[in-house]
Amino acid sequence: MSDLFPTLDPRREAMGQGAVLLRGKALSLEAEILTALKNITAQAPFRRMTTPGGFLMSVAMTNCGSAGWVTDRTGYRYDRIDPETGRPWPSLPPAFLQLAAQAAAEAGYEDFRPDACLINRYEPGARLSLHQDKNERDYAHPIVSVSLGLPATFQFGGPKRTDPVRKFALRHGDVAVWGGPSRLFFHGVPELKDGEHETLGRMRINLTFRGAL
Ligand code: SIN
Ligand code: FE2
Repeated sequence: MSDLFPTLDPRREAMGQGAVLLRGKALSLEAEILTALKNITAQAPFRRMTTPGGFLMSVAMTNCGSAGWVTDRTGYRYDRIDPETGRPWPSLPPAFLQLAAQAAAEAGYEDFRPDACLINRYEPGARLSLHQDKNERDYAHPIVSVSLGLPATFQFGGPKRTDPVRKFALRHGDVAVWGGPSRLFFHGVPELKDGEHETLGRMRINLTFRGAL
């Protein structure tokens, strides 16, 4: 049905070729996800990392999975060890794996089993400038991106930084999936507006699932 009449399903929005926004997709697993998130951040706390150019990122980050995305003065990379704690990252909780696999399948990417999940925390004013996700080894895997808490604007462009961007409002529970022809498309999040979310308070959390290793 949704393939024949994509515009008739209000929970499904096309973002571009191979890219789809699944409205409210994470809501049925909300409680499990929030509990898991507390466990993860107790073991691997949020921290603000430094870019290779020496800038402190406004978004605070942590990870779970076999490897985590990190940046410092030496560059961007996936690391099996959390440089902050010296320990492996917490493992991917079952609810995370289930959501990532289901969302990917709904977007047309069967059998997605992420091995890394970057967890971004935006406080009001935090932003992520236009970038490509390209530190992963195999671009055959899609990116599955889950939004929680305060709403944000998602900019989704094209293969070149200068390509025009389309803007999508991302709300609590929305899941964006991009892969195939749009796997390396530029994307970003402009400054988070202030507000108070009923469950998460004054912040936005984003989970980004990747096949990294
Ligand atoms: C990212 O590109 O890593 C995060 C995107 C988002 O916060 O929605
Ligand atoms: Fe990204």
